[in-house]
Amino acid sequence: MTEETEKRKADHIKICLEKKAQAKKATTGFEDIQLVHRALPEVDRAKISLSTSFLGKRLSAPLIVGAMTGGTEAATQINGAIAEAVEKLGIGMGVGSQRAAIEDPKHEKTYKIARKKAPTALLIANIGGVQLVHGYGLKEVNKAVEMIDADAVAIHLNAVQEALQPEGQNSFKGILAKISEIAGELEKPVIVKETGCGISAEDATSLEAAGVKAIDIGGVGGTSFAAVEYYRLTNGKIIDEAFWDWGIPTAVSLVETTQTVKLPVIASGGVRSGLDVAKSLALNANLASISQPVLEAAVKGAEKTEKLLSRLIDELRTVMFLVGAENVEFLSKVPLIIGGKTAEWLNIRGFDTVKYAQRSTLTVEY
Ligand SMILES: Cc1cc2nc3c(=O)[nH]c(=O)nc-3n(C[C@H](O)[C@H](O)[C@H](O)COP(=O)(O)O)c2cc1C
Repeated sequence: MTEETEKRKADHIKICLEKKAQAKKATTGFEDIQLVHRALPEVDRAKISLSTSFLGKRLSAPLIVGAMTGGTEAATQINGAIAEAVEKLGIGMGVGSQRAAIEDPKHEKTYKIARKKAPTALLIANIGGVQLVHGYGLKEVNKAVEMIDADAVAIHLNAVQEALQPEGQNSFKGILAKISEIAGELEKPVIVKETGCGISAEDATSLEAAGVKAIDIGGVGGTSFAAVEYYRLTNGKIIDEAFWDWGIPTAVSLVETTQTVKLPVIASGGVRSGLDVAKSLALNANLASISQPVLEAAVKGAEKTEKLLSRLIDELRTVMFLVGAENVEFLSKVPLIIGGKTAEWLNIRGFDTVKYAQRSTLTVEY
């Protein structure tokens, strides 16, 4: 990895910690989703089961930490803290793009720390989809997987970021065929993930046909890579904010994807609370994933990271209690109301928003 790339990676971390690189006017759409309160939940909060399985791996809660870092000095500490916390909690994590270590083995330790500190947790390797168009193939993806003994690999899509970076790679031509090739040949499952601009129904259909095993929809409403690049380019002073909020809001992307494909789906992009996780699962996501707030905790250590994630899990348990869900499966069937701009968007795109409100898990007991 060149010094320039290393600096870019360090800049991303610094900006995401020090600036407001979050969606500005756009929101996730979670505010348009209401779960129906049960005054008679008929469950014991302490006995609610949050456990689930994802791509054959057991998780004690339907939550993972999203891909963030590797390849810089600070990354070892950050990945180590996240790994320690997720191992303790029995959940999972992704590491950041492993290109740095594929190009220079001296960076491997900044990723390997994850498996070292999380010997049993779900670990997801990471590689850029655009890299596959520009020379990477099965060999490099395998290297990323083996480096951290990963359970799966995420191929990330970041067209906005590549378009805005002066050094960005602007050709994505042939990317689906490359994803399909890797998905067909790799022994581990391939997840395709967006990085904050969302996945449409049409792209979800293409990815399912390409043989990927899961989709992380990475929608608008949380970290904005257009914002990150804006700060990098302008030092916060000038110009182009046009793409700051570009993309498909998380709740919209989630409905478009879950109503269109049969694949497991990860909800991410602005997931900030246990309530957001519960809404994601009620919208039929299999897991939710959170990134930027965990970065803030991870620089302070494993304990703070564990505390943040535990708080989210505990809040999820409370929501499940209040909607009478004794397990994660039940949560995917509870009635909910979709209103506001999220319903408007989905209705214009031809998706059924009423069916969620008409779901009935209400049992009558006399
Ligand atoms: C500092 C930082 C670095 C990131 N680097 C990567 C990366 O290397 N690969 C990737 O797939 N996603 C990367 N992401 C995107 C996240 O995985 C996630 O999709 C995005 O931040 C939205 O989630 P959030 O709103 O919870 O932060 C990064 C995010 C942050 C904050």
